[in-house]
Amino acid sequence: MKVPFFRLRLTQTEEREVRKVLRSGWITSGPAAGEFEKKIKEITGAKYAIAVSSCTAGLHLTLEASGIRNGDEVITTPFTMAATIEAILYCGAIPVFADINPATLNIDPTQIRKKITKKTKAILTVDMAGWPCDYDQVRLLAKNNKLILIEDAAHSLGGYYKNKPIGSIADATVFSFYSTKNVTTGEGGMVTTNQKNLADRIRHLSLHGMTSSGWRRYFGGGWKYDITALGYKYNLSDLAAGLGLGQLARFSELQDKRQRIAERYFSNLIDYGGYIEPPYQDNISRHAWHLFIIKLNSKKWKIGRNQLIIELEKNGVGCGVHFIPVYRFSYFKKLLRISAKNFPHSENSYNTIISLPFYPDLKYSEVDYVCEMLIKLIGKYRR
Ligand SMILES: Cc1ncc(COP(=O)(O)O)c(C=O)c1O
Repeated sequence: MKVPFFRLRLTQTEEREVRKVLRSGWITSGPAAGEFEKKIKEITGAKYAIAVSSCTAGLHLTLEASGIRNGDEVITTPFTMAATIEAILYCGAIPVFADINPATLNIDPTQIRKKITKKTKAILTVDMAGWPCDYDQVRLLAKNNKLILIEDAAHSLGGYYKNKPIGSIADATVFSFYSTKNVTTGEGGMVTTNQKNLADRIRHLSLHGMTSSGWRRYFGGGWKYDITALGYKYNLSDLAAGLGLGQLARFSELQDKRQRIAERYFSNLIDYGGYIEPPYQDNISRHAWHLFIIKLNSKKWKIGRNQLIIELEKNGVGCGVHFIPVYRFSYFKKLLRISAKNFPHSENSYNTIISLPFYPDLKYSEVDYVCEMLIKLIGKYRR
């Protein structure tokens, strides 16, 4: 059997929504993007939602619209995708890294506290794999130090922290609709916030700093407009939003499937806890289940993580590693003069994690096969 690391299956529901846009006479930002924003507001409970071309673009806009400028410090996690750091650098700001809690792989509030200086302006969290950060602690730190809290929720649409949906907890939350995410538009993103001024600034900057959009101008809003800021071209097209609307029509079904696949992995692997640690969970939050990341207990293995991935792939199981911590990339290492030594939990976690195949289209028989191969390799390589 071959189980790919990722496989996307779209249905007639998505096709129907995209076809509607194709036949509507308008395919860039307009009514479908508006409808998509409305649906995201319903899911997240946020007052405002702005559809954008990617999560990276949304993070950049949110930081800039929040007033993050040259020399400001933004505390974030090294255990993330490069986009989180790039968005900070686009603003001329300095990413300051706080190590993670190794159990959750999320930024550790006690480490954040140590990194706050007079130059700190914001905290940028990441909900790794779809598991929400410790927001009571992070919000308290932000409030007490007058810092803006921005949440990179690329993985956590559908997640909850203490009965609150992700999307209405931080000052602003940014989602990704990249091809592999829980909801996809091919490429796309969304910013949600409860702050009107911030929402207005983000929308304004997302389309060249124009005072009126193309849709408004051509359909009754008058031809005149002004440019009142240096904006970007970060809007989401209606074509992409159509795909997103089709995905949202299936969202609860897709999330249920993710939940059931996670449970299947847990029950198959329950007896092997000495060798592999399954993802962290507790009753405080609800997982959005974007990724299924296991950790190896390296003392119990004769081979390392890299070799195990090779062995799994030889047996037809596609794997990933989320993430290579950003201080390991040559560009960031040189630019920010950061060293792995300062982030022992990120470094140890990085060396022992494997992301297993995990997507709604994954069959139970495929989950069982992945686990069978893992168990076979435990038998062969255990200490
Ligand atoms: C944690 C995190 N942040 C940001 C991004 C960037 O998302 P996008 O590709 O929509 O820009 C990703 C993408 O994988 C991600 O995993």
